[in-house]
Amino acid sequence: MARSFSQEQLRVRPSSKEEAVVQRAREHFERTLIRVRGELAGSVAALEHPRNHQELNYGEIFLRDNVPVMIYLLTQGRFEIVRNFLDLCLDLQSSAYQTRGVFPTSFIEQNGELIADYGQRSIGRITSVDASLWWPVLCWLYVRRSKDWEFGASQKVQRGVQLLLDLVLHPSFEGTPVLFVPDCAFMIDRPMDVWGAPLEVEVLLFGCLRSCCRLMELCQQGSKSRLLEQRLTLTRQWQQDLRIYLLKHYWVTSKTMQVLRRRPTEQYGDHQHENEFNVQPQVIPDWLQDWLENRGGYLIGNMRTGRPDFRFYSLGNSLGCLFGVLAPPQQRALFRLVLHNRHHLMAQMPMRICHPPMENGEWANKTGADPKNWPWSYHNGGHWPSLLWYMGSAILLHERQHPQADVLLMGQMKAMLEECYWSHLNQLPRQQWAEYFDGPTGTWVGAQSRTYQTWTIVGFLLLHHLLRIRPEDVTLINLEEL
Ligand code: GLC
Repeated sequence: MARSFSQEQLRVRPSSKEEAVVQRAREHFERTLIRVRGELAGSVAALEHPRNHQELNYGEIFLRDNVPVMIYLLTQGRFEIVRNFLDLCLDLQSSAYQTRGVFPTSFIEQNGELIADYGQRSIGRITSVDASLWWPVLCWLYVRRSKDWEFGASQKVQRGVQLLLDLVLHPSFEGTPVLFVPDCAFMIDRPMDVWGAPLEVEVLLFGCLRSCCRLMELCQQGSKSRLLEQRLTLTRQWQQDLRIYLLKHYWVTSKTMQVLRRRPTEQYGDHQHENEFNVQPQVIPDWLQDWLENRGGYLIGNMRTGRPDFRFYSLGNSLGCLFGVLAPPQQRALFRLVLHNRHHLMAQMPMRICHPPMENGEWANKTGADPKNWPWSYHNGGHWPSLLWYMGSAILLHERQHPQADVLLMGQMKAMLEECYWSHLNQLPRQQWAEYFDGPTGTWVGAQSRTYQTWTIVGFLLLHHLLRIRPEDVTLINLEEL
């Protein structure tokens, strides 16, 4: 009783500091917005980075870092900037033969010229698949919120959608609905053994296909185009197949694990489907037992022949809720898992990007001995404040859509979220809105962390908006049919 009383107090704690922190964060955020071709068009990745790293690209507009920026601007009714951003990205959609349809990872205007990175400039020459998959999602969220149907139905947008779909809807050697990608193709953009069909990319693909359908439907009424009809049918089917695939191969609970551990191996032929990927029970890690507890569940990180990746990835799982890959009872199982593993996932600085980290030989082998991805650091078990609002909105959206379901659990989730929000509020201004935090509890500012990182700042503002200002705006992110 005493505990819940103090939590209650925490929740309603009147604080003049809160207002001041939010106000300062808003000012920092304004400074991140930059002009391209004379108009405000998006945010730079970070306001400050060490002088000796001037040549790095944190001064560029990254598509993925601008996801929370654009969603925040939508909540503020600043539609023009979002439209400029979407428009510019379309202008930069690659038309080169080998990358046609790909959106850039980042871009910048230099001496009146637009320079974009499709991977040819990046460290390690990696390409980001997530940037391309995010574009239709952001475009649909913008069109629906601003009611700029004209932009959505414009030839420019529709052409962009078709070019992008060409990258996905084509025959492949595997013949599965997943998109096969190299290592480093998303937010985790350094070697981390996340090649193949990493969760975040596949969930984003699902959101992308959903959004492409909505955008194509805008043109459906007026036109009798058979091509458009065919594309729509194919995209809808692909999206459905993908969801079934993800739930079948990525979703695990304590119950499913007991079945998986006792499956036969070396099965040939297409008549039974018990162990398609020929996974040996020995690859199932020990930590999974406590992690899953009795009633928890989550989407594992990757599925590949013989080598599933059981690591927990926060962003892929949060998006699994927001985009509707997970059914409501599964979302609650995920919330139970987050609550149960709160000391890992939230700890001192919510929230950890990926758990557990790779150590020793595995770290050396799989990351190429990358010092930035040292165990408990950066992508390898580091803590990224920018990730909290994704999980936060998953919780808030669920609560809004299913107010009667498991009130006790949802109450605990809300209390946890509130405490996480307070950790940000109390720590981030002091830590100069750092990019990431290191160590098993996420207490230390990341060894190579930038300060005044845009998505740290705007992620906090978004969570503040959803918790304090307009909770109903969480539906803005909902991709399910209304
Ligand atoms: C780092 C991160 C990447 C982010 C970029 C800009 O490369 O790994 O996810 O987009 O910085 O902030």
